[in-house]
Amino acid sequence: MSLKHCLILGGAGFIGSRTALRLLESGYSVRILDSLDPQIHGTSLARSETLKCIWDHVEIQAGDVRDPAAVERALKGVDAVLHFAAGTGTGQSMYQIRQYSDVNVTGAAVLAEQLIRIKGQIGRVVISSSRAVYGEGAYLCLEHGRVYPHNRKVADLETGRFNPVCPQCAGPLLEQSSEESDPVQPTSIYGITKYSQEQVILNLCGALGIPAVALRYQNVFGPGQSLKNPYTGILSIFSQLLLQNRPINVFEDGLATRDFVYIDDVAEFNVRAVREPLTSCEILNVGTGFRQTLLDVVTALSESYGKEPEFSVSGQFRIGDIRHAAASQTQLRRVLGEHRFVEFKQGIAKFTQWVMAEGTDGALGTGYTRSLSEMANSGLLKGGKK
Ligand SMILES: NC(=O)c1ccc[n+]([C@@H]2O[C@H](COP(=O)([O-])OP(=O)(O)OC[C@H]3O[C@@H](n4cnc5c(N)ncnc54)[C@H](O)[C@@H]3O)[C@@H](O)[C@H]2O)c1
Repeated sequence: MSLKHCLILGGAGFIGSRTALRLLESGYSVRILDSLDPQIHGTSLARSETLKCIWDHVEIQAGDVRDPAAVERALKGVDAVLHFAAGTGTGQSMYQIRQYSDVNVTGAAVLAEQLIRIKGQIGRVVISSSRAVYGEGAYLCLEHGRVYPHNRKVADLETGRFNPVCPQCAGPLLEQSSEESDPVQPTSIYGITKYSQEQVILNLCGALGIPAVALRYQNVFGPGQSLKNPYTGILSIFSQLLLQNRPINVFEDGLATRDFVYIDDVAEFNVRAVREPLTSCEILNVGTGFRQTLLDVVTALSESYGKEPEFSVSGQFRIGDIRHAAASQTQLRRVLGEHRFVEFKQGIAKFTQWVMAEGTDGALGTGYTRSLSEMANSGLLKGGKK
């Protein structure tokens, strides 16, 4: 089946908008269904970082993925669907539990029911999943081999013991890259809903014989990431604090790590996930396999902006956060081919140039402070000096 017409649910966002442009370059037509959530796009849509890039190029329908009529309308004439609509803040998901469950899981359920209604029309579904499904992920214990520690204990975190320990002998561990066959054990509501979302789609597509790909992204960054949403996107938040000479609170001991993958690399794999001939359903990690500590992030941003950072390593921690994350790329390469990923520092240079061109207005920093108060009031931000 030759695919030509793509629908991106949540396509006005960071990953969706960049993917839309890449799909257009590759010869596909693109329609978007998006609720244009003010938390991400702001109240003046003309000032949304992502909308303004796609406005003149793709058909945009405003609507909610939980609304069957809106999804039915958006699916007309389409033969491939990319489902990116979601609530994306790990911390926020820990107290807006119904909202996250509703958007992320009900949205997938609505799409699944629509796929049954129009069976035969859709030749490919791509769903954005997350490394959050792995929770703390994989580690190596010198005595017990590859192990998968559960949630870190609050009592340990409160006394500065941030690294997970071996679930069998409580000994020290070495972090490993997550493989798709690793156990799923999310530590946050966000991770739980992303797993449900992924599985709802894969289950239905498997039953209907639609080849589908769930892409478990690591931390995606780059131009276009929201400079308004205070609930997610550490690079945007740190950038704005740094540029406004406001102090940066670095959680835990600053040595938690993330695998930062550049937006163009993610968009490339989204396009390949539509384009490559597949006959079954696949789950694939998308990440570089490299880790950066939070302190590396502060240093890289301050070097790139040419500004001395004012920061403190506070010892505070958020319930639901994990310690280390990085992706194994073996399956991604096997299914979607080789690729040269943008290096972290190169990506940071492009990102900071873009932030400088967009300008900052202080609202994100203020919103971030509010988001931390919300977490603290819910008992989900703990630790640090009393
Ligand atoms: N950015 C990352 O680092 C990252 C990492 C892992 C997974 N993901 C996943 O990738 C997807 C896209 O993430 P993103 O970074 O582009 O987020 P984003 O917030 O920039 O984009 C999400 C889009 O979905 C829209 N949306 C939200 N709720 C909706 C609803 N009910 N109906 C219709 N549209 C709705 C928003 O308006 C927004 O345009 C999400 O599913 C996210 O969970 C992102």
